[in-house]
Amino acid sequence: MTHILAIDQGTTSTRAILFDDKLGVTAIAQEEFPQHFPHSGWVEHEVTDLWATTAGTCRAVIEKAGLDVEKIAAIGITNQRETTVVWNRKSGQPIHNAIVWQDRRSAAICETLRDEGHEALFTKVTGLLVDPYFSGTKVKWLLDNVEGARAAAEAGELMFGTVDSYLIWKLTGGKVHATDATNAARTLMYDIRKGCWSREICDLLGIPMDMLPEVRDCAADFGTTRPDLFGRAIPILGVAGDQQAATIGQACFTPGMLKSTYGTGCFALMNTGDTPVVSQNRLLTTIAYQLDGKPSYALEGSIFVAGAAVQWLRDGLKIIREAGESQRLAEEAKDGQGIIMVPAFTGLGAPYWDAEARGAIFGLSRSSGPAEFARAALQSVGFQTRDLLEAMQRDWRAPEGDAVLRVDGGMSASDWTMQFLSDIIGTAVDRPACQETTAMGAAWLAGSRAGIYPDQDGFARMWQIDRQFTPQMAPDLRDSQYAAWQRAVQATRMFSA
Ligand code: G3P
Repeated sequence: MTHILAIDQGTTSTRAILFDDKLGVTAIAQEEFPQHFPHSGWVEHEVTDLWATTAGTCRAVIEKAGLDVEKIAAIGITNQRETTVVWNRKSGQPIHNAIVWQDRRSAAICETLRDEGHEALFTKVTGLLVDPYFSGTKVKWLLDNVEGARAAAEAGELMFGTVDSYLIWKLTGGKVHATDATNAARTLMYDIRKGCWSREICDLLGIPMDMLPEVRDCAADFGTTRPDLFGRAIPILGVAGDQQAATIGQACFTPGMLKSTYGTGCFALMNTGDTPVVSQNRLLTTIAYQLDGKPSYALEGSIFVAGAAVQWLRDGLKIIREAGESQRLAEEAKDGQGIIMVPAFTGLGAPYWDAEARGAIFGLSRSSGPAEFARAALQSVGFQTRDLLEAMQRDWRAPEGDAVLRVDGGMSASDWTMQFLSDIIGTAVDRPACQETTAMGAAWLAGSRAGIYPDQDGFARMWQIDRQFTPQMAPDLRDSQYAAWQRAVQATRMFSA
């Protein structure tokens, strides 16, 4: 057996990627699916879309590669995190669309929990904040609002899962209801230190514990696929949430190592080893990966708008036709205009967690045009990353000192953006040769378990760099630009308050 099939079920599309025995990409299949916005701040996916695109892309990639299915040693799954599915144990029918991580509908539930003084307990146990981002209050919303749901849950008829869990259940024909520790750590119900679901938290949320999946290591036995799905029963041996899979794919295995993934949003994770560092700066404490029963922790900073700012240039302002044009336009901008964009389209994530903030642009003059807007959008990604890194450094410093930042995701392909990032954070930025770090992380989990890939150290040695960006900006310019960004964020928040 020579290949691993990685499933990357993301927020806007599902991808299936075949990796060979040297961790090279053999073939990729991708399918987008519709986003549903039934009310302002609500975001849903049809559960059937998640499943159909998963089964469809897996079949498509096997066909595209012309690969004998017997050669696939195992499946690894990585997924959009926090997105919540509740389904009926007997019929398999979801009781509602999936509620997506971006969805803010449980804001009132969160406010009540905070007003009642429970946030400290949630943070202590789960490492998270009481925010609608996480699954727990989404499940509560479903039980409170879908007719008959609470009674069915109490009668043991309903199952909850993040997307990995639902896919495992579907792939195994309903035989396995499980998740991995990284996905469990995003539910707001998992005790990240004790390594089990928290009864106290589930009671507070009114969620019956028999709805919850069994939590396993990231490289573990998650059952085998129904033989009729792909022509053979294939073992599922690896599972991790997408940001954690990228941390693995970037081989950030040493405390202090740091990666940042630029997709729709941006998620920076710093490995803190066996220490679950408690943030004083509103970052999240989470599980980076769990292998052989041993969790490794991370500090996480989550920004909701990175690539989404470029999408706005394209779909909102219509000043570019495709995302790739943003770099060329940004390069044309006149220097020294000092335009700052705060892309708080859906509020601000870490370290501000300001759900009410909305975007703003500062410093416009008669000579400001599309090029200046494009530059400001790309620069906003660098400024936000610096916010996260500064918060991380205030919270914890690795014994070895500062590490470089490893980057991946669509926007990392832009040299201009990565150079500005390095300039504004004042640190080297490493872009890996393999652009498929998230899927590669999931593939490595499954392949190492299947015995076709090297161990952690061997895998880390395989990591290869495409390009390193080093700071070129004069320190006083860096400081004055960042100070301008901080003033812009402050003004934006005052305006939105
Ligand atoms: O926490 C949300 C994150 O996992 C979503 O990632 O890449 O699907 O936008 P992505």
